[in-house]
Amino acid sequence: MTTGVLTRQLAPGVEAQIVSSADFGSAAADLVQNQLSAKPNAVIGFPTGNTPLPLYHELLRRQKAGQIDLSRLQPVMLDDYLGAVGDNPISFFNWLRREFFDPAGIVASRIWRMPTDPDGIDQACRRYERGLMERGGVDLQLLGLGLNGHIGFNEPGSPAESRTRVIKLTETTTAANAVYWPDASKVPHSGVTMGVGTILEARSIGLLVNGAAKAGILRTALFGPMTPAVPASLLRKVHKIHVIADEAAASKLG
Ligand code: F6R
Repeated sequence: MTTGVLTRQLAPGVEAQIVSSADFGSAAADLVQNQLSAKPNAVIGFPTGNTPLPLYHELLRRQKAGQIDLSRLQPVMLDDYLGAVGDNPISFFNWLRREFFDPAGIVASRIWRMPTDPDGIDQACRRYERGLMERGGVDLQLLGLGLNGHIGFNEPGSPAESRTRVIKLTETTTAANAVYWPDASKVPHSGVTMGVGTILEARSIGLLVNGAAKAGILRTALFGPMTPAVPASLLRKVHKIHVIADEAAASKLG
């Protein structure tokens, strides 16, 4: 377990744990481990991206050391690219498999996959939501934070009531994602994401934020107006957000 970290009550219902970047993965893994200790078959939503990589590495390390049991975990997805179907390596589903689920021995059939096939997508999004309900709802939703304040692919303008749906990605997001692509012109311009409303229904929410580039938007999300213009600010509507930030990301929290 991570020790020596400071947990601060930043706003009603918003608790922030500020850690060194070396402790970031471990602090995030504690969140997952505590959830699984309370409920071994917890439904947990997992993001992709740079931010959660230290978390996934730490969970795999703990599993190898026999310190955590992931055998009953019910993973669900947060978002993906529209059109990234099947075993397309660019899909977030396959990214998560490569980085975490496969090495953790979590077979693909156990993962509630975000639909990505444009054919019948609206119906598939409704089915996705039903699947969350059938699992009893999400116990812990983990999130990264976009430079423009997005959560999942809920871009600025996403209302608090939004549900799982197709969304057009902003230039900021496609530019940020282009670094992962050999050919930047092929970055998809639409995503499929849990809605803000879907996310707010999770029984607990872990917002993971690291690096100096996110310091400004983290401050805006936590202290600025609660507005769809900054979707992460809408997380403050529910009183159960646990922010894990490294010192660089927390540098503007005062
Ligand atoms: C990814 C996702 C996005 C990222 C965000 C931060 O599944 O939902 O909201 O969490 O764009 O990305 P990174 O971590 O790469 O800075």
